[in-house]
Amino acid sequence: FDFSPDALYHPWMVQTFLHQIDLAISWSKKEFSHFPWRKKRSFYHTLVSEIMLQQTTVTTVLNRFENFIQQFPDLASLSNADSADLLRAWQGLGYYRRAKRLQGAAQALAQKGKVKMSVAALMQIPGLGDYTANAIVAIGYNRPALAIDANIERVLLRYWGEKKLQANSLNLRQAIKTFFEAELQSKITDFRAFHEALMDVGRTYCQARSTACLQCPLKSGCFSIDQKDDPYLKVIKAKKAKLQKKSVVLWRHFIYKNKKLFLVQ
Ligand code: ADE
Repeated sequence: FDFSPDALYHPWMVQTFLHQIDLAISWSKKEFSHFPWRKKRSFYHTLVSEIMLQQTTVTTVLNRFENFIQQFPDLASLSNADSADLLRAWQGLGYYRRAKRLQGAAQALAQKGKVKMSVAALMQIPGLGDYTANAIVAIGYNRPALAIDANIERVLLRYWGEKKLQANSLNLRQAIKTFFEAELQSKITDFRAFHEALMDVGRTYCQARSTACLQCPLKSGCFSIDQKDDPYLKVIKAKKAKLQKKSVVLWRHFIYKNKKLFLVQ
């Protein structure tokens, strides 16, 4: 190991992180174990809650999850639900397309029976993407996987800094995943608690535009705490600039093509 102050990896960094994660887990369990989707764990409850929590706030889901589960307690009842009932149960959660996607996935999964599925197998199910497949394995089964939602992405990026993750704006999630697999995965024992603690930190103390670092259980060892340049905002800015450049290129191409067409005419 390179022990110079600028070295990217110190063996103790991972130890520090894991220790801070333990603190975050205790805090998360104390504060947020009452979330209804954290009370009774099952494949089905994780599937439903993870799809509900995509693009909908925790507060909104808090008021809807239990009713939904009461009405559709398992894969079979959700598979057979008629559209009007499903729409009614989904009301207030927004993006009704997601409910149809959830039902589609439930129908495909109901045919598989009760076998534990891998991330790869889950991703074969229509309606389940990379995030949901990993979330089901990590949170539902408590097995090794990394589901990167916006909160987890932001917290890990700020904690480790973009240099250490070797993340630039275009490969951010892949870089986080690679770092996770190389440095952290083998040392984590409770994947479910790991995910939930990071999500809770992101939602509570490490929001996109507002941070409360002094209260954060991950503050010791966090790369961003004494940085003027927030790695998250830096990467997001770069990403926006790249997307803008791309759309300018597309726009030019479009004008060029039109001109050509125009000339041909
Ligand atoms: N608990 C489990 N999954 C969650 C999520 N996606 N958002 C917030 N809390 C969660």
